[in-house]
Amino acid sequence: PKVRDLEGVRVLITAGRNNEPLDPVRFITNRSTGRMGYALAEAALARGADVTLVSGPSGLTPPSGVRTVPVETGLEMYAGVMEHLDAHDVIIGAAAVADYRPKERSTAKIKKKDGPLVIEMVRNPDILLEVGQRKRADQVLVGFAAETNDVLENARGKLQRKKADLFVANDVSREGAGFGTDTNIVTLIDREREVDLPLMSKRDVADRVLDRVLELRLERQDV
Ligand code: PMT
Repeated sequence: PKVRDLEGVRVLITAGRNNEPLDPVRFITNRSTGRMGYALAEAALARGADVTLVSGPSGLTPPSGVRTVPVETGLEMYAGVMEHLDAHDVIIGAAAVADYRPKERSTAKIKKKDGPLVIEMVRNPDILLEVGQRKRADQVLVGFAAETNDVLENARGKLQRKKADLFVANDVSREGAGFGTDTNIVTLIDREREVDLPLMSKRDVADRVLDRVLELRLERQDV
């Protein structure tokens, strides 16, 4: 069994998708199931961390012992993260946050009409970007990059732009990686190194991410 090497470390994890309502019966969403984020929560808990899971809609049951903050929309996820940010040492963004939401949210069901329906979308806040701007020097920020092309270049760009300490790049077009699977294929990218991991369970990916987070925390305490 793994050692409890995260005892006393407070870890905030986002997981899953957002539902962005158009009206009382419809929403726009994506394919994230929450598996990657829940695997991180389980792994961190098993290693002794104090875990908060800000979770979008998911059929998964949060591991008992984890503080769960259930949310639906990107704005709710943003609010949930900002509320709990200060009380955590490590922040991991595994959620597939909705980049856009419908500009209007109709209180009545939208009726069929002749011709096409045009939906105007507006930007949601970028949670990770804002956490990167606000975070204290002792906090470690980890992002995930879901990419289909130029995977490493895009992930390196996000690491810099969002002022993260570590990015987990997954090529979601590969078999066994990304949305909905129990496995993933990732590259861990930080300012010192890039490590390609082979196909493995999301739980094993979670442990490798947490191993690197611990190293980054220790390096920081040395200086
Ligand atoms: O849930 P599963 O089915 O297990 O699938 C796992 C996963 C593919 C969703 C996961 O491994 C993953 O890659 N999550 C991040 C998906 C994503 O939104 O990537 P991105 O490249 O669009 O965003 C980059 C980072 O910014 C992410 O950490 C994301 O959480 C964060 N972000 C993005 C947009 C936004 N408005 N706010 C954010 O915080």
